[in-house]
Amino acid sequence: MKKDLGTLTAVFPMPVLMIGTYGENDEVDVMNCAWGQICDDDKIVLFLARDRKTLANMKKHNSFTVSIADRAHLKEADYFGMVSGNRSRDKFAKSGMHASPSDKVHAPLIEEFPVVMECILAEIIDSEHLFGIVGTIVNVKAEESVITRDGKIDAGKLNALMFDPFDNSYYTVGEKAGKAFHDGASLIQKQ
Ligand SMILES: Cc1cc2nc3c(=O)[nH]c(=O)nc-3n(C[C@H](O)[C@H](O)[C@H](O)COP(=O)(O)O)c2cc1C
Repeated sequence: MKKDLGTLTAVFPMPVLMIGTYGENDEVDVMNCAWGQICDDDKIVLFLARDRKTLANMKKHNSFTVSIADRAHLKEADYFGMVSGNRSRDKFAKSGMHASPSDKVHAPLIEEFPVVMECILAEIIDSEHLFGIVGTIVNVKAEESVITRDGKIDAGKLNALMFDPFDNSYYTVGEKAGKAFHDGASLIQKQ
């Protein structure tokens, strides 16, 4: 029997996205963002609080990068969610990670994360119930180690982190469970 638990953030898994931006003097900032999702083939939406340094940086340079955090860098990913570039000028340096400029947008590529989306700020949606940052994905870069022979990203090789909002925890992806747009097909014929 199901119990009523009231209003909860009950979507699982949530992603662990690393938003990379440049500040005033092109100093690197990275923030942890779990409230985000793909919203069209070439669009991503991120839900940021208005006081984030990342948001000010996005507006300044009209650009940002979105990396997928992996298990090997869990500590750094969590740190990026606990410290603000508004208060710590050496936030990125303290992480020990490395960045280089994107050749597609004015935003940093964080070298240690295996997959990154290079984005242009497309729109800020500010309505009664929604404050969302929409980015146009102009390119995706991925380490060769996570690309299959036919040129696709192999999700099984990413060791991507997932955010658990019930317990403020991180999980990693387990085994592949099935094939989408395929495994339900047998039920389509059923009367
Ligand atoms: C797991 C996790 C997920 C987070 N998700 C979001 C989010 O989706 N939106 C947001 O505004 N802040 C989120 N935060 C908080 C920001 O990452 C945090 O406030 C950070 O210090 C902002 O950095 P900045 O001010 O340098 O941009 C998250 C933090 C953690 C640890």
